[in-house]
Amino acid sequence: MSTLEGTVALVTGASSGLGAHMARVLARSGATVAIGARRADKLADTARAIEDAGGRAFAVDLDVTDLASVEAAFTQIVAAVGVPTVLVNNAGIAEAKPALTMSDAAFTRVIETNLIGQWRVAKAFAQRLVAAKRGGSIVNIASIAGERAAGALAAYSASKAGLIMLSGNLAAEWARYGIRVNAISPGYIRTDLNSAFFDSPAGEAMIERIPLGRLGREADLDGTLLLLASDASANMTGANIVIDGGHRHAGL
Ligand code: NAI
Repeated sequence: MSTLEGTVALVTGASSGLGAHMARVLARSGATVAIGARRADKLADTARAIEDAGGRAFAVDLDVTDLASVEAAFTQIVAAVGVPTVLVNNAGIAEAKPALTMSDAAFTRVIETNLIGQWRVAKAFAQRLVAAKRGGSIVNIASIAGERAAGALAAYSASKAGLIMLSGNLAAEWARYGIRVNAISPGYIRTDLNSAFFDSPAGEAMIERIPLGRLGREADLDGTLLLLASDASANMTGANIVIDGGHRHAGL
């Protein structure tokens, strides 16, 4: 697999969870990693962990729901480390609410972050690549909830379905500029936020329904992330790679 030495990669939502993990993985493969999120203190922890491991990181304040923040982040990144050629569009929120009682504001917040926010960052990324006459790779972090209904997650599920379709459309539009756009759809991955649920009887019952019999781990994403970020996937665009232990196909 190709190394990412000499590449600048931007990871959004890198202050915690999968984003922080993927930033470390890209840095270990040689990329200079720009990490963006709203929580400066947590972002500084991620940057320090990358640098302590011998990598290069540049932390920047980024709110994907705010165009001015996205533009300011790109200006700072380009000035500090150069034009990114890899974007991991990871920032996302989930609000579990029954659709009957979910507020307009909550539904809008989810779509604004997970769908419009990812498009906003992808557009700012692609505009700079086109201006620089360079190609690049976008990896959108979707979810199996983008293809299957999930309990009390209508807004989240709809946002991720939209993101999968957005990936295909951007792939078709931007292929002429050498910009590839693919998605990764993880199944449930154990993180600090959901551990308590998966240790409960309801959570354990859910794990039993996963064909491979376990939750995902952050490291399960590493191979696909490096594939899509690098030239090893030079002829892949518009793909949605599912990493879920077969959960999407669990028996009815
Ligand atoms: P997390 O909550 O730890 O990470 C989400 C990150 O996005 C956080 O750093 C948060 O600060 C950031 N973020 C949220 N709104 C933002 C905004 N407006 N601007 C900038 N950053 C913002 O959750 P996790 O689990 O690491 O999720 C990362 C991505 O993976 C999300 O897109 C999520 O939907 C997706 N995913 C997670 C799965 C899981 O089981 N953990 C399964 C499938 C997909």
